[in-house]
Amino acid sequence: MDKLEEKIKSIQKNLETELNQIKDLKHLDNIRVLFLGKNGIITNLITKLKNFSSEEKRKFGPQINQLKKESEEKINKSKEKIIKTQAKALNLKKQNFDVTAYNPNRKKGSLHLYSKFIEEIENIFISMGYDIFDGPEVESDFYNFTALNIPQNHPARDMYDTFWLNKQDMLMRTHTSTVQIHAMKTKSTPIAGIVTGRAFRHEAVDASHDIMFYQCEGIFIDKNVTLSNLFSVSKKFLQTFFKKENLDIRIRPGFFPFVEPGIEIDMQCPFCTKGCSVCKKTRWIEVFPGGLIHPNVLKAGGINPEEYSGFAFGFGLTRLAMLKYRINDIRYFHSGKYKFLKQF
Ligand code: PHE
Repeated sequence: MDKLEEKIKSIQKNLETELNQIKDLKHLDNIRVLFLGKNGIITNLITKLKNFSSEEKRKFGPQINQLKKESEEKINKSKEKIIKTQAKALNLKKQNFDVTAYNPNRKKGSLHLYSKFIEEIENIFISMGYDIFDGPEVESDFYNFTALNIPQNHPARDMYDTFWLNKQDMLMRTHTSTVQIHAMKTKSTPIAGIVTGRAFRHEAVDASHDIMFYQCEGIFIDKNVTLSNLFSVSKKFLQTFFKKENLDIRIRPGFFPFVEPGIEIDMQCPFCTKGCSVCKKTRWIEVFPGGLIHPNVLKAGGINPEEYSGFAFGFGLTRLAMLKYRINDIRYFHSGKYKFLKQF
């Protein structure tokens, strides 16, 4: 039976040796299993105790129990020690953290495609002497419709699937043409400016429609403004934007209640010479509508149509970005997908 006492001692010693070499919590857990697990050295010893005589049980039972208790305590202490050491190391690391250190592998953020695109467009118009305007996204019926020559029950209201708000006559603007009226009411003539901003439409979402998209609206109001002013400004803008000096435009009639006459501007395809998939082999791409501002709209904005005239145009900025960068799904813009964003 002395043998058993020796065994207990040797187990104690082995455990000590193992614990002295502990590296981390995982290592410690392996050792706990080795000694105290279901099939552990000490657990097996306790199982064997059943086969002992009652005298042996009385003698060794307490010793083995003591061994178990002590071993558990030692393992727990060891655990605490490891946790403390790890926390200390972490603290030291934090203390020595140098916020000014150069990190060559840092991921760089960048502006969203919209921000760059808007800046690019604004710069072109600024270079032509235009101001940058702004206006609210939450609008009243007046600014979005009535003042733009679209009175109550006018069928043109159906063109705009509107998000109406709970407050009477209030809505999310369906186009940036609202800013025409704000500009006329707050600026003095001559007025030349553009606004870029979001518009909202209650539409089914697919690859080319989203409930929210960006538009760019431009106006020029002065004495004797004619359609030829609109043609030349549009042409210059498109030539600069697509970096094609000789890019030509063509004009078709178009209808919007707030312009008279109304036109649609097409540009020559900037991507090919013989027809391609973007221009659907026609060499022409529809870019934006515009026209001379309707006298009723000038009146609503507080400007005398007998004395002044002006042009307005409005394009889908999102659509133009899709065209320029060949993006085939509008939903990417607001997806926040890193793979998409990092290309720009
Ligand atoms: N506001 C019109 C739209 O969103 C576009 C437009 C603007 C047409 C200015 C003519 C003049 O559909």
